[in-house]
Amino acid sequence: MSVNKEIKRITTHVIQAMKNRSEKITMLTAYDFSMARILDEAGVDVLLVGDSASNVMAGHETTLPITLDQMIYHASSVVRAVKRALVVVDLPFGSYQGNSKIALESTIRIMKESGAHAVKLEGGAEVEESIKRILSAGVPVMGHLGLTPQSIYKFGTYTVRAKKEAEAQKLMSDAKLLQELGCFSMVLEKIPAELGKKVSESLDIPTIGIGGGPDCDGQVLVTHDMLGITKDFKPRFLRRYLELFDTIKETTQQYINDVKSLDFPNDKEQY
Ligand code: KIV
Repeated sequence: MSVNKEIKRITTHVIQAMKNRSEKITMLTAYDFSMARILDEAGVDVLLVGDSASNVMAGHETTLPITLDQMIYHASSVVRAVKRALVVVDLPFGSYQGNSKIALESTIRIMKESGAHAVKLEGGAEVEESIKRILSAGVPVMGHLGLTPQSIYKFGTYTVRAKKEAEAQKLMSDAKLLQELGCFSMVLEKIPAELGKKVSESLDIPTIGIGGGPDCDGQVLVTHDMLGITKDFKPRFLRRYLELFDTIKETTQQYINDVKSLDFPNDKEQY
Protein backbone atom coordinates (compact mmCIF):
# COMPACT_ATOMS: atom_id res chain seq x y z
CA MET A 1 0.00 0.00 0.00
CA SER A 2 1.42 3.41 -0.94
CA VAL A 3 1.13 6.81 0.76
CA ASN A 4 -2.43 7.99 1.41
CA LYS A 5 -2.40 11.38 -0.37
CA GLU A 6 -5.93 12.17 0.89
CA ILE A 7 -4.50 12.83 4.33
CA LYS A 8 -3.23 16.39 4.42
CA ARG A 9 -1.96 16.43 8.01
CA ILE A 10 -1.26 13.49 10.29
CA THR A 11 -2.69 13.91 13.78
CA THR A 12 -2.92 11.52 16.69
CA HIS A 13 -6.52 10.82 15.58
CA VAL A 14 -5.30 9.85 12.11
CA ILE A 15 -2.77 7.48 13.72
CA GLN A 16 -5.57 5.86 15.73
CA ALA A 17 -7.77 5.57 12.63
CA MET A 18 -4.91 3.78 10.86
CA LYS A 19 -4.82 1.13 13.57
CA ASN A 20 -8.63 0.85 13.46
CA ARG A 21 -8.54 0.04 9.73
CA SER A 22 -5.38 -2.11 10.02
CA GLU A 23 -3.23 0.28 7.99
CA LYS A 24 0.40 0.12 9.13
CA ILE A 25 1.93 3.30 10.55
CA THR A 26 5.39 4.43 9.40
CA MET A 27 7.77 6.36 11.63
CA LEU A 28 11.38 7.43 11.08
CA THR A 29 13.75 9.61 13.06
CA ALA A 30 14.73 13.12 11.92
CA TYR A 31 16.98 15.66 13.55
CA ASP A 32 17.48 18.35 10.91
CA PHE A 33 15.60 20.42 8.33
CA SER A 34 16.99 18.88 5.13
CA MET A 35 16.39 15.24 6.05
CA ALA A 36 12.98 15.99 7.58
CA ARG A 37 11.91 17.66 4.34
CA ILE A 38 12.83 14.59 2.28
CA LEU A 39 11.14 12.14 4.66
CA ASP A 40 8.00 14.29 4.92
CA GLU A 41 7.74 14.64 1.14
CA ALA A 42 8.15 10.86 0.86
CA GLY A 43 5.04 10.52 3.01
CA VAL A 44 6.24 9.05 6.29
CA ASP A 45 3.43 9.33 8.87
CA VAL A 46 5.40 10.22 12.00
CA LEU A 47 8.78 11.91 12.36
CA LEU A 48 10.45 11.19 15.67
CA VAL A 49 13.02 13.68 16.89
CA GLY A 50 14.65 10.90 18.86
CA ASP A 51 17.22 11.31 21.57
CA SER A 52 19.20 8.93 19.34
CA ALA A 53 20.44 12.30 18.02
CA SER A 54 22.87 11.93 20.92
CA ASN A 55 24.46 8.95 19.14
CA VAL A 56 23.82 9.76 15.50
CA MET A 57 24.35 13.52 15.41
CA ALA A 58 26.72 14.11 18.33
CA GLY A 59 28.68 10.82 18.41
CA HIS A 60 27.99 9.99 22.06
CA GLU A 61 28.01 6.35 23.12
CA THR A 62 24.57 6.59 24.77
CA THR A 63 21.46 8.77 24.61
CA LEU A 64 22.08 10.14 28.10
CA PRO A 65 24.18 13.27 27.40
CA ILE A 66 21.77 15.08 25.06
CA THR A 67 20.16 18.13 26.69
CA LEU A 68 16.70 19.64 26.53
CA ASP A 69 18.09 22.69 24.71
CA GLN A 70 19.73 20.45 22.11
CA MET A 71 16.49 18.46 21.60
CA ILE A 72 14.59 21.72 21.11
CA TYR A 73 17.16 22.85 18.53
CA HIS A 74 16.75 19.59 16.58
CA ALA A 75 12.95 19.60 16.93
CA SER A 76 12.50 23.18 15.72
CA SER A 77 14.66 22.40 12.64
CA VAL A 78 12.44 19.40 11.87
CA VAL A 79 9.17 21.26 12.45
CA ARG A 80 10.21 23.98 9.96
CA ALA A 81 10.49 21.31 7.24
CA VAL A 82 7.30 19.37 7.84
CA LYS A 83 3.98 19.83 6.06
CA ARG A 84 2.28 16.48 6.64
CA ALA A 85 3.89 14.27 9.29
CA LEU A 86 3.15 14.21 13.00
CA VAL A 87 6.27 15.41 14.82
CA VAL A 88 7.02 13.63 18.12
CA VAL A 89 9.94 14.71 20.30
CA ASP A 90 11.78 12.60 22.88
CA LEU A 91 11.98 14.03 26.37
CA PRO A 92 15.71 13.60 27.04
CA PHE A 93 17.20 11.84 30.06
CA GLY A 94 16.85 13.96 33.19
CA SER A 95 14.05 16.14 31.84
CA TYR A 96 11.11 14.13 33.26
CA GLN A 97 12.24 11.44 35.72
CA GLY A 98 12.74 13.82 38.66
CA ASN A 99 9.10 14.67 39.23
CA SER A 100 5.98 15.43 37.26
CA LYS A 101 6.43 19.21 37.58
CA ILE A 102 9.84 18.99 35.88
CA ALA A 103 8.30 16.73 33.23
CA LEU A 104 5.59 19.27 32.47
CA GLU A 105 8.06 22.17 32.40
CA SER A 106 10.29 20.29 29.93
CA THR A 107 7.29 19.41 27.77
CA ILE A 108 6.03 22.99 27.70
CA ARG A 109 9.46 24.20 26.58
CA ILE A 110 9.50 21.62 23.77
CA MET A 111 6.00 22.48 22.61
CA LYS A 112 6.44 26.28 22.80
CA GLU A 113 9.97 26.55 21.45
CA SER A 114 9.89 23.89 18.71
CA GLY A 115 6.27 23.80 17.57
CA ALA A 116 6.21 19.97 17.75
CA HIS A 117 2.97 18.02 18.13
CA ALA A 118 3.65 15.43 20.84
CA VAL A 119 6.32 14.09 23.20
CA LYS A 120 7.67 10.60 23.87
CA LEU A 121 9.11 9.29 27.12
CA GLU A 122 10.50 5.96 28.30
CA GLY A 123 9.05 3.73 31.01
CA GLY A 124 5.79 2.49 32.52
CA ALA A 125 4.53 2.71 36.10
CA GLU A 126 7.69 4.60 37.16
CA VAL A 127 6.70 7.63 35.08
CA GLU A 128 2.93 7.48 35.67
CA GLU A 129 2.71 10.85 37.45
CA SER A 130 4.73 12.60 34.75
CA ILE A 131 2.51 11.19 32.00
CA LYS A 132 -0.67 12.25 33.84
CA ARG A 133 0.60 15.79 34.30
CA ILE A 134 1.73 16.20 30.69
CA LEU A 135 -1.59 14.84 29.43
CA SER A 136 -3.51 17.17 31.74
CA ALA A 137 -1.83 20.08 29.93
CA GLY A 138 -3.27 18.77 26.66
CA VAL A 139 -0.05 17.43 25.17
CA PRO A 140 -0.23 14.02 23.45
CA VAL A 141 2.19 11.43 24.88
CA MET A 142 3.79 8.44 23.15
CA GLY A 143 5.16 5.78 25.52
CA HIS A 144 8.26 3.63 25.02
CA LEU A 145 8.65 0.12 26.52
CA GLY A 146 11.00 -2.84 26.09
CA LEU A 147 14.57 -1.74 25.47
CA THR A 148 14.67 1.76 26.92
CA PRO A 149 18.11 3.19 26.04
CA GLN A 150 18.00 5.87 28.76
CA SER A 151 18.22 3.00 31.31
CA ILE A 152 21.20 1.32 29.65
CA TYR A 153 23.33 1.44 32.80
CA LYS A 154 20.59 -0.32 34.77
CA PHE A 155 20.32 -3.16 32.23
CA GLY A 156 23.97 -3.24 31.17
CA THR A 157 23.36 -4.40 27.59
CA TYR A 158 21.30 -3.60 24.47
CA THR A 159 20.06 -7.21 24.17
CA VAL A 160 16.45 -8.30 23.55
CA ARG A 161 14.15 -7.48 26.48
CA ALA A 162 11.21 -9.29 28.11
CA LYS A 163 12.24 -12.80 27.09
CA LYS A 164 11.48 -14.05 30.59
CA GLU A 165 7.87 -14.40 31.73
CA ALA A 166 8.10 -11.95 34.65
CA GLU A 167 9.53 -9.17 32.47
CA ALA A 168 6.98 -9.90 29.74
CA GLN A 169 4.14 -9.62 32.28
CA LYS A 170 5.50 -6.31 33.59
CA LEU A 171 5.72 -5.01 30.02
CA MET A 172 2.12 -6.05 29.32
CA SER A 173 0.87 -4.38 32.50
CA ASP A 174 2.87 -1.20 31.72
CA ALA A 175 1.43 -1.17 28.18
CA LYS A 176 -2.11 -1.37 29.58
CA LEU A 177 -1.31 1.37 32.09
CA LEU A 178 0.02 3.69 29.36
CA GLN A 179 -3.21 3.15 27.43
CA GLU A 180 -5.38 3.77 30.54
CA LEU A 181 -3.48 6.96 31.31
CA GLY A 182 -4.28 8.24 27.83
CA CYS A 183 -1.08 7.80 25.78
CA PHE A 184 -1.96 7.89 22.07
CA SER A 185 0.61 5.29 21.07
CA MET A 186 3.77 3.55 22.25
CA VAL A 187 7.09 2.29 20.90
CA LEU A 188 7.96 -1.35 21.61
CA GLU A 189 11.72 -1.77 21.26
CA LYS A 190 13.62 -5.04 20.86
CA ILE A 191 11.19 -7.56 22.35
CA PRO A 192 10.19 -11.04 21.10
CA ALA A 193 7.84 -10.82 18.08
CA GLU A 194 5.31 -12.99 19.89
CA LEU A 195 5.10 -10.47 22.75
CA GLY A 196 4.87 -7.57 20.27
CA LYS A 197 1.87 -9.34 18.73
CA LYS A 198 0.24 -10.03 22.09
CA VAL A 199 0.62 -6.45 23.30
CA SER A 200 -0.56 -4.97 19.99
CA GLU A 201 -3.64 -7.19 19.93
CA SER A 202 -4.48 -6.42 23.58
CA LEU A 203 -4.43 -2.66 23.12
CA ASP A 204 -6.78 -0.27 21.35
CA ILE A 205 -4.02 2.32 20.81
CA PRO A 206 -1.32 1.70 18.19
CA THR A 207 2.06 0.16 18.94
CA ILE A 208 5.12 1.08 16.86
CA GLY A 209 7.84 -1.53 16.82
CA ILE A 210 11.60 -1.34 16.42
CA GLY A 211 12.62 -4.96 16.68
CA GLY A 212 9.12 -5.66 18.02
CA GLY A 213 8.04 -7.96 15.18
CA PRO A 214 5.65 -7.65 12.22
CA ASP A 215 2.44 -7.52 14.23
CA CYS A 216 3.08 -4.12 15.79
CA ASP A 217 0.71 -1.54 14.31
CA GLY A 218 3.60 0.41 12.86
CA GLN A 219 7.37 0.32 12.43
CA VAL A 220 10.12 2.80 13.26
CA LEU A 221 13.79 2.85 12.33
CA VAL A 222 16.57 5.32 12.94
CA THR A 223 16.88 6.95 9.51
CA HIS A 224 20.68 6.99 9.53
CA ASP A 225 20.68 3.23 10.17
CA MET A 226 18.05 2.57 7.48
CA LEU A 227 20.08 4.55 4.93
CA GLY A 228 23.39 2.95 5.93
CA ILE A 229 24.96 6.24 7.07
CA THR A 230 25.86 4.79 10.46
CA LYS A 231 28.75 2.41 9.93
CA ASP A 232 28.87 -0.74 11.99
CA PHE A 233 25.39 -0.91 13.57
CA LYS A 234 23.75 -4.02 12.14
CA PRO A 235 21.22 -5.52 14.59
CA ARG A 236 18.95 -8.28 13.28
CA PHE A 237 15.85 -6.05 13.23
CA LEU A 238 17.45 -3.45 10.95
CA ARG A 239 16.92 -3.39 7.19
CA ARG A 240 19.60 -1.20 5.53
CA TYR A 241 18.02 0.10 2.32
CA LEU A 242 21.20 1.85 1.19
CA GLU A 243 24.88 1.92 2.10
CA LEU A 244 25.16 5.70 2.05
CA PHE A 245 28.32 5.78 4.15
CA ASP A 246 30.18 4.17 1.24
CA THR A 247 28.34 6.17 -1.43
CA ILE A 248 29.04 9.50 0.27
CA LYS A 249 32.66 8.53 0.91
CA GLU A 250 33.21 7.52 -2.75
CA THR A 251 31.49 10.70 -3.98
CA THR A 252 33.67 12.81 -1.70
CA GLN A 253 36.78 11.06 -3.06
CA GLN A 254 35.55 11.87 -6.57
CA TYR A 255 35.18 15.56 -5.62
CA ILE A 256 38.68 15.60 -4.10
CA ASN A 257 40.13 14.07 -7.28
CA ASP A 258 38.26 16.55 -9.49
CA VAL A 259 39.59 19.56 -7.56
CA LYS A 260 43.15 18.25 -7.32
CA SER A 261 43.25 17.35 -11.03
CA LEU A 262 41.88 20.80 -12.03
CA ASP A 263 38.78 19.16 -13.55
CA PHE A 264 36.45 21.14 -11.22
CA PRO A 265 35.34 23.86 -11.76
CA ASN A 266 35.21 23.68 -15.57
CA ASP A 267 34.37 26.47 -18.04
CA LYS A 268 30.63 26.24 -17.35
CA GLU A 269 30.99 26.14 -13.59
CA GLN A 270 32.32 29.67 -13.22
CA TYR A 271 31.25 33.31 -13.79
O1 KIV B 1 15.56 7.92 19.99
C1 KIV B 1 15.11 7.16 19.10
O2 KIV B 1 15.53 7.17 17.96
C2 KIV B 1 14.07 6.22 19.49
C3 KIV B 1 13.71 5.16 18.51
C4 KIV B 1 14.73 4.10 18.53
C5 KIV B 1 12.35 4.63 18.74
O3 KIV B 1 13.55 6.30 20.57
